[in-house]
Amino acid sequence: MSENSIETLMNEERTFDPPEEMLENSNITAQQYEEACRIADEDPEKFWAERARELLLWKRDFKTALESDPEKNEYKWFAGGRLNASENCLDRHLENGKRNKAALIWQGEPEDEVRVFTYHMLHRKVCRFANVLKKMGVSKGDRVAIYLPMVPELVISMLACARIGAVHSVIFAGFSAVSLQSRIIDCDAKILIAADGVLRGGKTIPLKRNVDEALFECPSVEQVIMVKRTGDEIDFIEGRDTWWQDEMAAPDIEDYCKPESMRSTDPMFILHTSGSTGKPKGIVHSTGGYMTITAHTSQWVFDLKDDDVHWCTADIGWITGHSYTVYGPLALGATTLLFEGVPTYPRPDRYWEIINRYGVNIFYTTPTAIRSLRREGSQWTEKYDLSTLRILGSVGEPINPEVWIWFHEHIGKGKLPLLDTWWQTETGGILISPLPYVGKLKPGSTGHALPGIKTAIVRSDGSEASANEGGHLLITEPWPGMLCTIHNDDARYRRTYFERFPGSYETGDGARIDEDGFHWIMGRLDDVINVSGHRLGTTEIESALIAHPDVTEAAVVGIPHDVKGQSVYAYVTLRSGLDQDDETRTALCNWISEKISPIAVPEAIQFSEGLPKTRSGKIMRRILRSIAVGGTEFGDTSTLSDASVINDLIEGQKVLF
Ligand code: WTA
Repeated sequence: MSENSIETLMNEERTFDPPEEMLENSNITAQQYEEACRIADEDPEKFWAERARELLLWKRDFKTALESDPEKNEYKWFAGGRLNASENCLDRHLENGKRNKAALIWQGEPEDEVRVFTYHMLHRKVCRFANVLKKMGVSKGDRVAIYLPMVPELVISMLACARIGAVHSVIFAGFSAVSLQSRIIDCDAKILIAADGVLRGGKTIPLKRNVDEALFECPSVEQVIMVKRTGDEIDFIEGRDTWWQDEMAAPDIEDYCKPESMRSTDPMFILHTSGSTGKPKGIVHSTGGYMTITAHTSQWVFDLKDDDVHWCTADIGWITGHSYTVYGPLALGATTLLFEGVPTYPRPDRYWEIINRYGVNIFYTTPTAIRSLRREGSQWTEKYDLSTLRILGSVGEPINPEVWIWFHEHIGKGKLPLLDTWWQTETGGILISPLPYVGKLKPGSTGHALPGIKTAIVRSDGSEASANEGGHLLITEPWPGMLCTIHNDDARYRRTYFERFPGSYETGDGARIDEDGFHWIMGRLDDVINVSGHRLGTTEIESALIAHPDVTEAAVVGIPHDVKGQSVYAYVTLRSGLDQDDETRTALCNWISEKISPIAVPEAIQFSEGLPKTRSGKIMRRILRSIAVGGTEFGDTSTLSDASVINDLIEGQKVLF
């Protein structure tokens, strides 16, 4: 984040009161909130046990809320309990009058492509697909990789895995063959579910090519189940590839599949996320804790009710889509909306048109989407009646107060609660957020930690920061939904999250807490760049650049970007004699797109002869970050081995902009 935007957040003093008329019918009133805080403070385990029992169907009750071994950073939630996530999201709603209500509304990118699944229909599809997986030999504990665009089959696949106790690992369809491959290898998947292509912005993007390339070296994958989406011609590998619709229509596939009774602590899914070093981390979530936090936060934060249409715009390839498109809303028996397209195609009113068309009640999106729509002007919002909306939410990166105000004013008509929710892949669900009808909202602040969640801001030496002093954001007590480990790397799990500040979970974010207890998130403290709400590790991008035959050295930093929040700025040293021109830049950008994802493509590439390094060879990123934004003051540079590189870099930056 830029110094400037931190300043703006620091000075924000506007506050907004929740709409009083809504309070009465909300899932949690001010009084209940006070009470919840009291119970959670006095006896957090009792608080969580009550929530878990109230929200979920347990096939066997748990004995204790939490079994922990702090030495090993092992936290087992609801141990002894048994449940099934898919049963919680589907079966129990068939019995309580919701059989024929819409569970999932799918809006395809083409405006006339819509599919609606009632709970009955979704249950049947999930059961059938679970039977397909079983027929292919998938059983409890096996990993299934899913590489699909935003189509209903994605939701069906996830729930089918959960039904038979297979561990799903969803891989964002925007990832390249290389990223797909490393994730499949990391989770050792037996089956891959993929599609021929993606529809995006009126174009089709092929996916199957990535699949074939990735599977070149993934010996664990036995079968690929292909969903037909774009209809483009693909290479079909007999014996390995099969079509989804053929498998589903097979005469021996039955409409019912008994849900597997899972231990609360059994892994439910793996989702990879970028870390500050090395390869992406496969975050493992366990069944009982994860289902509790998603159902709990959907109910309290989004005030989700039975008859609500809930729309979370995030791709299911990220945790936000897992928790708030799939598991949270379905666990509560609401209607969830899945949109395949982008906010600006065919026109920048797509979101508003969808809200109007389906009568969306809860709209959860990202600052980057709002920034891009705000840029298009408010005339696009004014065409539509958005009066069904009740709650707005934002997630993924800090929302600039001006953007918050625009969202609140133009979409929330100056009165709806706009909740800036903070959480991470690792936390499973929202941990810090205002509740819609309790207390004030401050634009740019994520409010208080939810009841039962304990946060602290500490200095680098571990001492507690004072009010308004920025520092490391820690979660000091375990919570249901916290990751249980990093797949295949328990040591990295302990090192990454628990080593530096023993006894607490280290989020990797910088934040401050003001005198009213409101949290103000400042962004990542580690070398992670947040581009449009997507976490990218600088080392991942650097490693990819260095892997290019023309490149000898590379360093990557994040710089502020009007729409994306942050963008990637790369310093690249080429082998001598090569042309430092736009053609090379394009080649490197294509390379990154191919090796990682189009999201990771640098906004700017500066060719440099050398990088600022300490005598021990460590690149001083602080200096690179400053140069990238035209800075000239670098603080203490006495540890640099060769300070002269700085002037060259400053000159190089000026030429670029
Ligand atoms: C950032 C997304 C500011 C933060 C759910 C965190 C936020 C990372 C907010 C996790 C917010 C998330 N305000 N920053 N409301 N929400 N972040 O794992 O840096 O994709 O560590 O999970 O996004 O990203 P992840």
